[in-house]
Amino acid sequence: MHVLGGSASTTLAERISRELGNVPFGIPFRKRFPDGELYVRVGGSFEDQDVVIVQSLRADSDLIELFLLEDAVREAGARHIWVVVPYFGYSRQDRRFFPGEPVSARALARRVETDADAIITVDLHSDLNRGVFRKTLFEASGIPAIGRLLRERPVDLLVSPDKGGVDRVRRMAELLGKPWIALEKKRIDSERVELYYPPTGPDVRGKQVVLLDDVISTGGTIVESAKLLRSRGAEAITATCTHGLFLKDAFERIKAVTDDVFATDTVENPVERASVAPDIAAILRREIAHETKGTAAAPPVEAARP
Ligand code: R5P
Repeated sequence: MHVLGGSASTTLAERISRELGNVPFGIPFRKRFPDGELYVRVGGSFEDQDVVIVQSLRADSDLIELFLLEDAVREAGARHIWVVVPYFGYSRQDRRFFPGEPVSARALARRVETDADAIITVDLHSDLNRGVFRKTLFEASGIPAIGRLLRERPVDLLVSPDKGGVDRVRRMAELLGKPWIALEKKRIDSERVELYYPPTGPDVRGKQVVLLDDVISTGGTIVESAKLLRSRGAEAITATCTHGLFLKDAFERIKAVTDDVFATDTVENPVERASVAPDIAAILRREIAHETKGTAAAPPVEAARP
């Protein structure tokens, strides 16, 4: 087996290869042509091998890189291509909200899986996302990774910023044996939200509260949630999520109203302290019968454009 790290997920890919017992790990060569087009080249022989490509879809260019890597690995003779997409971009457009819109999640899923034999991802945005895949899909959860860190600190109450996160916060609450609540969220536009405390919610005065979301994007949801909890007397607020996009100044705005903020490593960011590598490796280990011991893959070689 080989693990290849796309440029959006190099660190996580290496962690996965280590979790698998140091299976061969490689970083494909990557450059831009003068016209801006991307060039990739994979090193080593993949003849009859299981190859794991790890690439989050954070930016549009990550998608092009993934398509090229899938094709390169197939051309190099791989037997089975596992495409690990830790953060599946575009998954929040999981339905047609207005006439004329695409179901972006489906559009991406169909194309990503074209050259893949199986897809592994982490915390898809919704149940609708799961239905858009035609090939085998495995979904890991960010909950165990975040839970491993939360176990080491005092937690009195787990809070989901909205009803959509109830399953997630309930799962974490079961894992840690702590109470949970969900706030009411009203979205004004893509950057602004209003948050309301549930009328039957517990008194948060003096409590250590953890806000748990699947994605932190503009930070609007977490900032308003933290302000609400603070105004009700919460003593300490930790904000955490699976996918930390932290757009623009989101990170600074969140830090200003919380005591700590961290995410998993599905997206590379300055606070990716909870690794999902063990959880992704567990799926691969379970699904692939193989010997995991190996040597480092041959380094990729630059080539001229054909
Ligand atoms: C919404 O359904 C999601 O679970 C997140 O709460 C949302 O995407 C976060 O976005 P932002 O950080 O821009 O408020």
